[in-house]
Amino acid sequence: MKIAQLLLTWYENSKRDLPWRRDKDPYRIWVSEIMLQQTRVEAVKPYFDRWMERFPDLESLAEAEEEEVVRHWQGLGYYSRARNLLQGVREVSQSYGGQVPQTKEEVIGLAGVGDYTAGAILSIAYNKKEPAIDGNVLRVFSRLFCVEEEISSPAAKKVIKQLVADEMSEEHPGDFNQALMDLGSSICIPKTPRCTLCPLADCCCAKRKGKEGQLPVKKKKAPPKAVRLMAGVIRQGEFFLLHQRPNRGLLAGMWEFPTVEIGEDGEAMDIFRQGIQEKTGQVIELERLLLQCTHIFSHRQWDISFYYCIAAPDRIVPNDRELKWVNRTDWEKLSFAGPHRKMEKYLAEKNSQESWQSFE
Ligand code: ADE
Repeated sequence: MKIAQLLLTWYENSKRDLPWRRDKDPYRIWVSEIMLQQTRVEAVKPYFDRWMERFPDLESLAEAEEEEVVRHWQGLGYYSRARNLLQGVREVSQSYGGQVPQTKEEVIGLAGVGDYTAGAILSIAYNKKEPAIDGNVLRVFSRLFCVEEEISSPAAKKVIKQLVADEMSEEHPGDFNQALMDLGSSICIPKTPRCTLCPLADCCCAKRKGKEGQLPVKKKKAPPKAVRLMAGVIRQGEFFLLHQRPNRGLLAGMWEFPTVEIGEDGEAMDIFRQGIQEKTGQVIELERLLLQCTHIFSHRQWDISFYYCIAAPDRIVPNDRELKWVNRTDWEKLSFAGPHRKMEKYLAEKNSQESWQSFE
């Protein structure tokens, strides 16, 4: 039997009941695909449900404020994806009368939509014969056809794109793509594939050659670079000084306690005090360490220490777009960056247990 037929039969019997599979609404499929680029299916489900409660259709998202949209993304990471999704949805609302377009050229022209997402939306929502090749599909096909090129290389992607196009179902391209996604995440998994359960085991080149553990071929990844940071929890009365990260780069646009990178050399406390003065204009005294935590990104590891600080009272109070004194009661409207959310929660708990005075 052909690969597509085997896959579709398997999918029919074992497909998961996922919230974005209950209809063919391209908006819901779009949102799910962007979320699924961040994390596993199980982790996405509650985010997806909450999102759909607040933004049930394309227009409700298109009309929303960016700050609120980013807040609903909080916890998924890579906030630029949420911003791009919002921008893409607004483009559909303004240029396509609210209907997600049906051609590859148009869909791929929307903000945040790349080759994979365009293929997923078009095949799942509109049953178009478009491949949707993500890491799972690359892994499955590298094993099925013993593709030996390094899996992130353009050569491997080109070969696999052609193989997927050759094997793809004519009648059910959306189910074909989703079956591959499911197979890749539940059976043809990275280290120890569950070949005894695989519907494609009999046509798998890697299985035949006993190479399923060696494929796909992967480049050695450099470990994340550790960065030592100090952050100041700087308070005046009920207000805390917060900084909004730049619109590009890591945790773009998120709020944080003013933070200084501490190099390997020099006296950390002096570097911190000086860095805070340069960034915020505040002269601070360090009171005590509140919290230490580590946050790992794909290329970076933050080792961050939060210090409670007293600001000299006679300083000019900054209040520009990136730097604000924010009342504690207004924090829930902000999206905090990664570990800064932990700090914020710590303060919220402290505040419910003790008065601010005893906190000092
Ligand atoms: N991973 C990415 N997209 C997916 C989908 N539509 N279903 C299941 N897993 C996925």
